[in-house]
Amino acid sequence: MNIIGLDELLFGVDDVAACTQYLRDYGLTPVGEAGERLEAEDGTAVVVRAKDDPGLPPGLGTASMLRKTTYGVADAATLEAIATELGRDREVLRLADGSLQTVDDMGFVLGFQITVRRPLQVAAEVVNSPGTGQGRPVNDVAVDEGAPARPLSLSHVVYFVPDETRAAAFYTQRLGFRETDRLIGAGGFLQPAGTQDHHTLFMIQTPPFMQGVEHFTFHMAGPGALMQAGYRFAGKGYESFWGPGRHKFGSNWFWYFNSPLGCHVEYDADMDLHDAQWKPRAVPMNAEASQLFLFTRREKWAPGGPPPAGQKASH
Ligand SMILES: [Fe+2]
Repeated sequence: MNIIGLDELLFGVDDVAACTQYLRDYGLTPVGEAGERLEAEDGTAVVVRAKDDPGLPPGLGTASMLRKTTYGVADAATLEAIATELGRDREVLRLADGSLQTVDDMGFVLGFQITVRRPLQVAAEVVNSPGTGQGRPVNDVAVDEGAPARPLSLSHVVYFVPDETRAAAFYTQRLGFRETDRLIGAGGFLQPAGTQDHHTLFMIQTPPFMQGVEHFTFHMAGPGALMQAGYRFAGKGYESFWGPGRHKFGSNWFWYFNSPLGCHVEYDADMDLHDAQWKPRAVPMNAEASQLFLFTRREKWAPGGPPPAGQKASH
């Protein structure tokens, strides 16, 4: 199944205005008159509607506001293969826009469509690393204080699920996802066949009342872009939840924020790529396994002034 990755997440929320403002400040671009579709550079998106919008698929019956997760696939043949496979044991709707709609084994509503992703036309984040002879051109300045936050592509979504084994089996056995690594006691990182990203989906075992979306994230160009976007986002008053830091499995840099969408929203950057040659790892879930390092944002400071808040003078 040539599933490339996430195309869109659809939410039914309490406060549409707060959610769209949040996602604009995060760096997504509103598209269309209502401004409820907010896109990254490649056209992947988050769509926000009022929770009582009659056009929304039903919710999960928990506090989660996620109503639908839509995957982009490579071609019409993949869509037909998905319709045939999932049609064996569940209803698969064909919507007017040509996409498929169904549910996974935990009750999450899923969509499948020929991907909306556009080729990215952005420069890579480059570092000057001694001895490599590569990096930025001479006289090219790295710091651009006015650089906008540019989420490039919808990276991954994390669900809380009441039965992780069964939930993951649906994706691996029915849709061709691979498990790249596993945090024992939490869940496995899942990669669809059409991408080399370490994970597109991660599901964490929780009690049933917690079922829903835990977070979603977009790829940034690199660690520098992530830090600058997150620093500025926090400076606007949004509450940092976890980060900045760097995960071990996937090696992705992360910075999570609280949001009015009922879940955390993350910036990520520099995720590992894997193919079928990769041998999955498994370690118990704990704080040490979960990140290589973790920092906390601080207000700006300059040498010569009083010690930064919370620090003692060294002499
Ligand atoms: Fe994440």
